[in-house]
Amino acid sequence: MPIERVFVAGAGLMGHGIAQVHGTIGKRVVLYEPELARAEAGRDRIAGNLERAVAKGRLAAAERDATLARIEATDDLDRVAGADLAVEAVFEDVEVKTALWARLDVAAPEAAIFASNTSSISIDRLAEAVGEGRRARFIGLHFFSPVPVMPLIELVRGSATSDETDVAVRALAAELGKQVIASADRPGFIVNRILMPFLAEAMRGYEEGLGSADDIDAGAKVGLNHPMGPLELADFIGLDVCLGIMRVLQEGLAHEQFRPPGVLERLVEAGHLGQKTGRGFHTYPRGDLSNSGGAS
Ligand code: CAA
Repeated sequence: MPIERVFVAGAGLMGHGIAQVHGTIGKRVVLYEPELARAEAGRDRIAGNLERAVAKGRLAAAERDATLARIEATDDLDRVAGADLAVEAVFEDVEVKTALWARLDVAAPEAAIFASNTSSISIDRLAEAVGEGRRARFIGLHFFSPVPVMPLIELVRGSATSDETDVAVRALAAELGKQVIASADRPGFIVNRILMPFLAEAMRGYEEGLGSADDIDAGAKVGLNHPMGPLELADFIGLDVCLGIMRVLQEGLAHEQFRPPGVLERLVEAGHLGQKTGRGFHTYPRGDLSNSGGAS
């Protein structure tokens, strides 16, 4: 069954981007948050992204308008009743995700595919929240931020995921112009299994005074040709999100390299979550305070 109508739960960093890319390729999108203002803020963010593309001459104004017209913000979870695909992109917490999936399972059509954008949590664990019949149509589809820019999707099958579901989401990924990699249903999947020890080691180095945040980041940017240094990338992803992923990795794999650094725990406890709160390892907008003193 082709996927034409998409329900996206969560309008934050990932959710708004996921809604945008589906709207861009002509899908009808409903963007859900329990508070309407947050769903609308996600849609406004999409409007801002599209506006920048128009200003750069990369998108026609008519295309921007048509894309926005296909994306509706809602606080009504029952709107999933009209969806071929529900994508969940809410906070990386197993309780939050399973509670939402259980409600969606009741309201969604039987044939709808359920895709979690979880970055680390087991798909089988999340699929326990839905009825047995749905589990064949339950899959992990992990996007990367910024979603309109990053051309990768990690596809994670649970033990009950059917071949039909796999085929349908791969066809969708092709429409989106994203490359698919398949990961086993293991903690952190492929990308975060590689990324998080790198970020954690940069944090531990920072904590022990190995170098300033700017110098650690410059080491990766200038010396390794990475687009962002590890500390600014962590700030960009969200320090609470990084901490959540590291905890899942540590619990699931029990390697010392996944242990969340103390400095990360302290920043999150203090509410310094990175770009979204204006402060993490750096301060934002960049350059208004010492870029190397954000975490001190
Ligand atoms: N939303 C939409 N588009 C964006 C954007 C955003 N938030 N940020 C940048 N862009 C677009 C710009 O509009 C620009 O588009 P054009 O080429 O069409 O003009 C393009 O991206 C490049 O942007 P800039 O020139 O402004 O900036 P840049 O060259 O410094 O690139 C970046 C910005 C793409 C974010 C780059 O720094 C980068 O690739 N960083 C690494 C990102 C990364 O590693 N992401 C994965 C994180 S891990 C994850 O998401 C998964 C997880 O589970 C934690």
